[in-house]
Amino acid sequence: MNPLHHELKHLYEKVKQDTLIKNNEEDYWRLSYHVMPPIGWLNDPNGVMQYDGVYHLYYQYSPYNANGGLKYWGHQSSKDLVHFKDHGIVLYPDQPYDLHGVYSGTAFVEDGKVHYFYTGNVKHLGEHDYITSGREQNTIYAISHDGGFTIEKVACVLHASDYPKEFSQHIRDPKVFKHAGIYYMLLGARDLNSQGQVIVYKSKDLIEWNYHGVFAGPIDGLGYMWECPDYFEINDTALLIISPQGVESEGYACQNIYQAGYLLGEFDDSKITFIAESQFIELDRGFDFYAPQTFVDRKGRRILWGWMGLPDESGVITNPTVEKGWQHAMTLPRELTVENGQLKQRPLPEYKMLRHDYFTDTLQLNGQYQHEQLRGDVFELIISIDHLEADLEISLRQDTVLYYDQQDELLHLKHGKSGYGRDQRTIELAELHQLQIFSDRSSLEVFVNDGDYVLTTRVYPDQGQDNITINGSARVTIKKWVLKSLTS
Ligand code: FRU
Repeated sequence: MNPLHHELKHLYEKVKQDTLIKNNEEDYWRLSYHVMPPIGWLNDPNGVMQYDGVYHLYYQYSPYNANGGLKYWGHQSSKDLVHFKDHGIVLYPDQPYDLHGVYSGTAFVEDGKVHYFYTGNVKHLGEHDYITSGREQNTIYAISHDGGFTIEKVACVLHASDYPKEFSQHIRDPKVFKHAGIYYMLLGARDLNSQGQVIVYKSKDLIEWNYHGVFAGPIDGLGYMWECPDYFEINDTALLIISPQGVESEGYACQNIYQAGYLLGEFDDSKITFIAESQFIELDRGFDFYAPQTFVDRKGRRILWGWMGLPDESGVITNPTVEKGWQHAMTLPRELTVENGQLKQRPLPEYKMLRHDYFTDTLQLNGQYQHEQLRGDVFELIISIDHLEADLEISLRQDTVLYYDQQDELLHLKHGKSGYGRDQRTIELAELHQLQIFSDRSSLEVFVNDGDYVLTTRVYPDQGQDNITINGSARVTIKKWVLKSLTS
């Protein structure tokens, strides 16, 4: 290992231990079964893959500044997708081509090696964010020979100055796939008319890359920049995931500052293009979800992680954990399937291993229901609903409410004080059959009707606020488990 990196790894471990000891006991919002940064700031999932049975999750990481800053890649690994081990920093911004940030990228496994492609960010003096100047975003190739634990940079394979002239300096977040023996690299891009697109390069050897053309876009109304493209097929259905910036909200949709979602379409393998055949569909309808990335594991499952957060609106700190020296986390990993032409997202069954203290009740609900065993902060709760005769309201985590308005066919997620200034998100829903709620110390993930929708949000209740109340008129079956904490 590079001696400087050795020193830096040592320093990281020391700062981490000191911070954790200092904050121990007084950091109630530290998550107990989600991947989170041990210290500092985390954003996008990066390089997700499985090698030799071990799952690897890297992420955009600013370890020494909870408000973000210079980006490294952090690294955690797991044998079961539930228990994760922190390996600290794995990629440093230490070359002329990535000096101001080892930005997002992806990985794939081939010939016993892990191949990574990521964006090297370089800021020029002055304003860094003009669309035609101010920064370089280069594409870097890196390899791991030990299954993902150490990564060596191989080469800067695309310099920003070689990007196509009809595009701005905003070209980033490579994703490589192989088709008919050729490698194709997708990159998220902003064109000179400030419209988002995905462009594609091709290569025979992963080193020499040639511009092939536009893979997808632009699409009117779908933003000025498309970040983090991910293309794949599930059961012959082609999906393109993108994180567009600059999409106007419409009705209840696209309410966050930036969106993350997908287009269903057709892959034209003669031209290597993606023809969108659906509207843009958001992957998550809560407050905190962005820049997701997928991979296929050895069982053949398409698994997605998202950043359980969003870029801040200029300078507003949206997360009170900053005072404790950390910010943001990953969502639970989700399995993606396509059923009857529709994408479903379900929590991985592996998380059942955390369940204990089971409580169940089946009843004709008529008014307000509470139960001594229906309390908690770290839990999974499944409510199955039959014969709904009125609105249904579930209050939890101090003052967060899930409210189904039967007449208007709307499901609301409403925050109170513990939502830290957030108000509500809403989905149009003709029928409500099931809510599966994962609650952690400072997060909620709500899977609606067995994976048709997901609403993810961070929440900051006071410690000890563990009431759960269900109110309505319906036949319901409640199943609740306390989830084992992995951190204490
Ligand atoms: C998405 C993103 C990516 C970029 C990275 C930088 O959140 O803006 O486009 O590579 O974050 O941290």
